[in-house]
Amino acid sequence: MSCLSAHFFARVQAAPFYQSLHEEAVALLPAGQGQRWLDLGCGPGLLSRLAHRHGYCVTGVDADPAMVRMAQRLVRRVGPTGLEFRVGRLGDPDRSVGRADVVSAASLLAVMPDRSQAVRDLTALLRPGGTLLLIEPSALMSPQSVRQYLAGQPRMPDAWVLRLWASTRKPARLVQASDLSAPGFVLTRHALLGGLVNAWLLREIAPASGSAEAAI
Ligand SMILES: C[S@@+](CC[C@H](N)C(=O)[O-])C[C@H]1O[C@@H](n2cnc3c(N)ncnc32)[C@H](O)[C@@H]1O
Repeated sequence: MSCLSAHFFARVQAAPFYQSLHEEAVALLPAGQGQRWLDLGCGPGLLSRLAHRHGYCVTGVDADPAMVRMAQRLVRRVGPTGLEFRVGRLGDPDRSVGRADVVSAASLLAVMPDRSQAVRDLTALLRPGGTLLLIEPSALMSPQSVRQYLAGQPRMPDAWVLRLWASTRKPARLVQASDLSAPGFVLTRHALLGGLVNAWLLREIAPASGSAEAAI
């Protein structure tokens, strides 16, 4: 990607509907008290900033240095602590990024060549009992459904971003429940933006109370 892509994605992330749906997704997690959150494929950092505002200590990671520079530039204006961005690649054997209580990936899975491997790599970044949050367009995200959705809304600022999202989404890249099975995790789906977008939560099943570990 490039500086141009970073500017473009920053513009997309500034659209009020895009911010609201990511805010709703973050609110599916309990408010944090400084727990660690890793946001993979963070782009210009919207989801990372929202997670930080929700009480988490956040590291946003992106493979594209231009995205990371943009994310850093956008927070320099705010100057928060407990929020950092770094260059990194999902699946990279360099695990210096560590593990987290929450791992998120928005609009990343659809661009990964091997989704099952990507889910394994994402869950491997979780601490025991952690939660993976995935945000992806649903099967409903099409130009026709978006037209219907917008017709039922009061005037929506930056509606062009939603139209563009729908017209560029490739049906073959649809992320569905069958892509997201992970042993030891419970999967739930949450419909956002009138069902055009899905937030998926994979929560690790807590070890049974009374197990040897719990009894110590
Ligand atoms: C479609 S953008 C989504 C950006 C942001 N998460 C959002 O939802 O607005 C996908 C992002 O994932 C990054 N990316 C692609 N492959 C990656 C990988 N293997 N590891 C980390 N980031 C990756 C890209 O550089 C890009 O910033």
